[in-house]
Amino acid sequence: MEYIAIVDLGSQYTHLIHKRLTYIGVESILTSEFDERVYNAKAVIVSGSPLSALRDDIKEIEENINKIVSFGKPLLGICFGHQLISLMSGGKMVNKAEYGRTKIYLKGTNEILKGLDDIEEVWMSHGDCVIDPGEAEVNAISERGCISAIRLPNKIVYGVQFHPEVSHTRKGSQILMNFAKISGFLINEISMKERVSNYYAEELNSIRTVYKGGKVVSAVSGGIDSTVATYMVMKAIGYNNVIPVLIDHGLFRENEVDESIKNLKKAGINPIYINASEDFIARLEGIESCEERRKIIGELFAEKLNKIIMDEKASYLIQGTTYPDLIESGKTKHSQKIKSHHNVGGIPKWFNVQLIEPLKGLYKDEIRELGNILGIPKEILSRHPFPGPGLAVRVIGKFTSEKLNLLRKADKIVSDELKSKGIYNELWQSVVSISESWVGVKGDEREEGYIINIRLITSNDGMTADYYLPRNDVVDEISRRITNEVKKITAVSFITSTKPPATIEPC
Ligand code: XMP
Repeated sequence: MEYIAIVDLGSQYTHLIHKRLTYIGVESILTSEFDERVYNAKAVIVSGSPLSALRDDIKEIEENINKIVSFGKPLLGICFGHQLISLMSGGKMVNKAEYGRTKIYLKGTNEILKGLDDIEEVWMSHGDCVIDPGEAEVNAISERGCISAIRLPNKIVYGVQFHPEVSHTRKGSQILMNFAKISGFLINEISMKERVSNYYAEELNSIRTVYKGGKVVSAVSGGIDSTVATYMVMKAIGYNNVIPVLIDHGLFRENEVDESIKNLKKAGINPIYINASEDFIARLEGIESCEERRKIIGELFAEKLNKIIMDEKASYLIQGTTYPDLIESGKTKHSQKIKSHHNVGGIPKWFNVQLIEPLKGLYKDEIRELGNILGIPKEILSRHPFPGPGLAVRVIGKFTSEKLNLLRKADKIVSDELKSKGIYNELWQSVVSISESWVGVKGDEREEGYIINIRLITSNDGMTADYYLPRNDVVDEISRRITNEVKKITAVSFITSTKPPATIEPC
């Protein structure tokens, strides 16, 4: 098999390189080591990294890259990979950052930039900037003056400072396709529908092979992932063998539990409802650290789930783990933990149950497509993603039930306004959070109240995101409604930051 080896030096986006290559029919493998699979590959891509060539010892990585270049293999360095190639060509770098949407200006000829405009919009995420390319040829400069694309003369070696693998880099797929073609691969583009249909057929078979009888428990929330996962397993092994459970941790949005149960029933999923809100809220009260809250919620959730598994004498548990969850929880050699996502950290080792993870090869946009294929009701598929730990990760600073309740009210106003103004479906998510504090004057009285922060974003996969600012009259209506209708809210802010640098949830 001919493939491209993707050397994962710890970037948050490395797995997206694999995804893009899959969609153009090019085989690839991901590895954190410069092992023999890298040296046997037809071409190599070196990813971004939290490492800095200005700060960290990177001698071993440099030696390996030199070796790959000396073998004459096609090589593409992305972000940190681009910086390494520049430095190895005698270039210079300084500490200067670029995050999110950035313009680049193209110059000269570079085969992998074929098909791009003279000025392109790309997505950056780096703290160091190449200012001197050494012997490399410069093919693009960013609006902030960083060298953003290079090629080595007489070699099939390229570097790009930005991330072609993220969907916000407009022509990113084109760049990866150009590189694959230059490296001698045949391009065979496949549609998402085709890929997801094939995945579904294979996964149905594999669930049937793994399942040896007995009860299967599934924790559902009314969100896309858990609904699609549960529905798929029901199809594979029969509806009556699956016990769906909705554990209410008290951190859902206003009316969300009732709506979810109603929608799940439409999909033929009739969950057992367990109200555990008091236990969760009591354990969270006063906790300042968001990571600690995530841990508490994960552990308590596992305890509740385990009780059901024991009561039902179940042998299996369905988990809506997605492909990025799996890769990120793999704690690759060079990557940094940004947040402990609930669905990965939540299931402790002492669980005496076999996991069924039917979505583990899919990304969020593909899960939505699978939901479509399965005929899941649109009320579920069109819902914004909502984090497992719920509103607990939207309370900034100390967690109190007062803040939680105020946040829930403000969040409802935002959702209602977005729906009534026809904006809701244009967005990936509306993330409403609460923080302290802003001195207000309400009815001539001083009030030290809370701030409601509204982060409306567009995205394809949640890996990168752009902010969305509604029209002035919508901003005005939302802001006035919140300060008038929700006690103790003295200020409303709209967040205008992309991801990166700001992640989607505040903590
Ligand atoms: P971040 O905040 O990491 O979010 O930029 C990326 C996407 O993941 C969602 N998110 C979570 N989903 N459990 C989940 O199931 C979690 O703990 C969690 N934390 C963040 C977030 O809403 C966004 O869609």
